[in-house]
Amino acid sequence: MKIEPSMGLNYYQIKKNVRKARKLVIQGTTSAGSGHPGGSFSMAEIVGVILFKYLRHDPKNPQWEERDKLILSKGHAAPGLFSNLAVAGYFDESELLTLRKFGSKLQGHPDLKCPGVEFCGGSLGIGLSFSIGSAMAAKIDGKDTRIFTIMGDGETDEGQVWEAAMTGSKYKVDNLTAILDRNFIQQDSYTEKVMPLDEELVGDNLSEMWKDASRWKTGDKWRSFGWNVIEIDGHRIEQIDNAIKKATSTKGLPSIIIARTIKGKGVEHMEDNPQWHGKAADPDIAPIIDTELDCQFMIAPSIIAGDMSNLENEVKRCVHGRADYIHLDVMDGQFVPNKTFDYTKIKELRPLTVIPFDTHLMINDPGKQIKNYVDAGSDIITVHAEVCDESSFGEIHDYLKQNQVGVGLAINPDTDIPNWSYKFLPTLDQLIVMSVVPGKSGQKYIESTHEKMNQINSVLEQNNFQGYIEADGGVTLDNIGSCFHDGARIFVGGSAIIGQQDVRGVITEFRNTTLLARRKLLLKKANDLGGTELVKKWIDLHKIGEKKQQLMKIATEAGFL
Ligand code: DX5
Ligand code: ZN
Repeated sequence: MKIEPSMGLNYYQIKKNVRKARKLVIQGTTSAGSGHPGGSFSMAEIVGVILFKYLRHDPKNPQWEERDKLILSKGHAAPGLFSNLAVAGYFDESELLTLRKFGSKLQGHPDLKCPGVEFCGGSLGIGLSFSIGSAMAAKIDGKDTRIFTIMGDGETDEGQVWEAAMTGSKYKVDNLTAILDRNFIQQDSYTEKVMPLDEELVGDNLSEMWKDASRWKTGDKWRSFGWNVIEIDGHRIEQIDNAIKKATSTKGLPSIIIARTIKGKGVEHMEDNPQWHGKAADPDIAPIIDTELDCQFMIAPSIIAGDMSNLENEVKRCVHGRADYIHLDVMDGQFVPNKTFDYTKIKELRPLTVIPFDTHLMINDPGKQIKNYVDAGSDIITVHAEVCDESSFGEIHDYLKQNQVGVGLAINPDTDIPNWSYKFLPTLDQLIVMSVVPGKSGQKYIESTHEKMNQINSVLEQNNFQGYIEADGGVTLDNIGSCFHDGARIFVGGSAIIGQQDVRGVITEFRNTTLLARRKLLLKKANDLGGTELVKKWIDLHKIGEKKQQLMKIATEAGFL
């Protein structure tokens, strides 16, 4: 099967694949006892978006003549490449367990004997030159091949990178998109200590100043070499997506996406800690990390709780607040008594941001209107089980998947997951479990939802649900922790977020409170698996910032120490 861009996966599928790939990185490196999880995780979303959305390739025919090429210049992050190639179908996921073993095609650095690998990376600094050569050769051959090259920031200490930068610009290599994985850490230390790209770091604190985009100078360097520069948050799938779209449509000069990333992203104790550049997690720690990777969570403010006469401003407040999603409650005055807005409003709001639009349709006959909501720019559309059956939902499901839009199903407080929906659960992206009777924001959370979640979780597990549960209705700082323990990973906040003055501050509080719940869950897992000793070992891994003290406090309160 040829993978054309039009067949790319939707946002949620990419997210789920990246999650799976991160888990495989841990399995592989832990079984090898060595390897590079840190840099594999900083580029995880970047590889995911390229491979699952933009790259024209064929996992069943890796040598397909017309394919695009993904070049991993920072070859030490091989586990991050191999795991995504496995998820894409180049080889079986279980092969990750042979990583770095004698005779395996998955070695410590990418080698051409592994299908899907285009470049033997590892000798740093040469991937960009190789990529420019490949891109120019494709042009000479009259092909429309595109080259995507991922470089490390430490790697750009090499002089050859800057020779390549001049060459790419001189020859206007516009079929090349370079991505700089700007995680600020290289093998021995912080990049800004070894050879600053932005500013010299004095001391050891990779503090907020390095996360402050206004102080970045790396982009200016590339601009001065004649490149089209796009700067983004390299863990936001929607920003990577948008940047690649822009880069690949820019003609006459090469493009580089400078992606601010976090080394070790996704595993708290690895994040921003140089030690995890090239070291594997211990086998007794790996199952806890595996759970942690399942526990990524997202905050989705619901704008109807704000000023309905100025929803543009509400969207802007979400953007400023760094929301993960924007939850759009569509009410038709029939399925629920209230009326809010319809697809015409969503279409007007769409240009304001690339943050995913999480459209929740509280309307009758959703199938009739689904196309309008896709065209308006929704990233996911959730319809209610109460107004669907197997056949109508099946049509909606297929239509959304074909159009790269996520598929969601919502159930009211009095509704159970219907039997007819079981067959869709493995491919469902989101399940909204309503914790208020839908119709308006500002209602109180229905406590019995917690009990209901127990049954729901067993149905989901039996039916291989891989998506995200969204808690919607009456979610507050007081109950978000228990919603997290129930299994919810996306949290809608109407009155508790948009109804507040300081949206950014409240979202931060939502995140911190959920993080506490997650830490507690992971400490419990450590305690279940290995008692106090493993709890202590887990806590000790958390070296950066204040995490350690906070974990000690939670573990002491929970009686694990
Ligand atoms: C309920 C909507 C919810 C709700 C969220 O009908 O689906 O999204 O408005 O608002 P709060 O968080 O205030 O319940
Ligand atoms: Zn909603």
